[in-house]
Amino acid sequence: MQTNENTNREARQSLHGNWSSRLAFIMAVTGSAVGLGNIWKFPYMAGQNGGGAFVLVYLLFVFLIGMPVMMSEILIGRRGRRNPIATMKLLGQEEGDSERWKWVGVMAVSAGVLILSYYSVIAGWTIAYVPKAIFGEFAGSDAQSISLLFDNFVSNPYSVIFAHTLFMIINFIIIASGVKGLEKAVKFLMPGLLLLLFVLFAYSLTSGSFMDGVRFMFTPDFNALNWDGVLTAMGLACFTLSIGMGAIMAYGAYLPQETSITNATVSVVFADTSIAMLAGLVIFPLVFANGLNPGEGPDLVFKTLPLVFGQMQVGTFLATIFFVLLSFAALTSALGLMEPAVAWMVESTQYNRKQSAATIAFIIWFLGLGTALSFNSLSEFTFLQGTIYENVDFLTSNIMLPLGAVFTTIFAAWIMSQNSTSEELDGHGFVYKSWQFLAKYFSPIAILIIFLQAIGWI
Ligand code: PHE
Repeated sequence: MQTNENTNREARQSLHGNWSSRLAFIMAVTGSAVGLGNIWKFPYMAGQNGGGAFVLVYLLFVFLIGMPVMMSEILIGRRGRRNPIATMKLLGQEEGDSERWKWVGVMAVSAGVLILSYYSVIAGWTIAYVPKAIFGEFAGSDAQSISLLFDNFVSNPYSVIFAHTLFMIINFIIIASGVKGLEKAVKFLMPGLLLLLFVLFAYSLTSGSFMDGVRFMFTPDFNALNWDGVLTAMGLACFTLSIGMGAIMAYGAYLPQETSITNATVSVVFADTSIAMLAGLVIFPLVFANGLNPGEGPDLVFKTLPLVFGQMQVGTFLATIFFVLLSFAALTSALGLMEPAVAWMVESTQYNRKQSAATIAFIIWFLGLGTALSFNSLSEFTFLQGTIYENVDFLTSNIMLPLGAVFTTIFAAWIMSQNSTSEELDGHGFVYKSWQFLAKYFSPIAILIIFLQAIGWI
């Protein structure tokens, strides 16, 4: 069905305003992409899966799956110019299919809310580690006391809930001020983050074990990587790029018409990957310089690194920088997790942005209590995958995100007409054809494999 798409599309305006420039959009999407995934998950997963080979496979997925899915999300978002639910419904009708595509939007928005409910708790730990760093609590400590410091902190429900609450309040304040507020926040936080990372990088360069870190990350030893590791790398690539849950779609809705989606995607993917690599190049040399084990797991950031910092002369300073940096990274990602739900509420109810942001923030905060208590009072309360936290993480990362990404690419590549997609992606050339091939066949099939594996069907 050929509708009068061009006129529709040009007349369509986002209710929330637009990014003021291409750079602002790139910073916002990069801000959403760069988060705990790059600086906390990537190094520990690379560490657990033997380094080089994992990194190589991760990079492959970032380019072959991440790029086409991200382009699909941005193009859908910009064409619809609404929140992910309304956009999927509108485009489903406009492309002559069904408005039932809105359910993909519903899943995406819910995934954002659920992910943020636990993301905020971990981000809260990061914030809580800033004063610990400033007051030199790691200085001179041995492995046991650093470990105890962390265990004592997470086993106290009040301190964990306090930090989670603080993090959600900051989110609320930024989100309530709309696209302008988002833009201001990322314009300050993103360059700040890069600067801090470079300071740490400079330090790690001189740590004496820099080359050990490089070798670990870039010498592929395929014996160290099993099929599970390959799947983990694929899931991580989706997670770090924030794809499959509407964040990129919501941000795409505020993208000016003349900006090239392909160029913007390339910049974001490049920035996201470079920051993950940089984080690895900061962390591994420090780990090796201290004779520690890179395969430590999720504790890497909260136990191993403070231990490393505690041994250094300028450790208090560097630890402060590191945890401030991680808090910045978590904050800009959290904004992307919350925006789809807030945009939906502003557009579909009579509540204004402040009221909507407050309501959504409250719901997320409340859901987050489940995760906050999973590490203390409710640690014994387990079902299906384990604690409440483990269930929310499993449901979102292993089920909702991959499904969201598959449906988004299928929608863009199979349901939308060539006219619409080539209009958004400017042209029919090699880039467009490559996107089409990857989005039509490669990405959905590859992602489906992770999904089936995650639910244990293959
Ligand atoms: N990409 C973020 C990270 O690396 C997490 C995230 C996922 C943010 C999905 C927004 C949407 O930490």
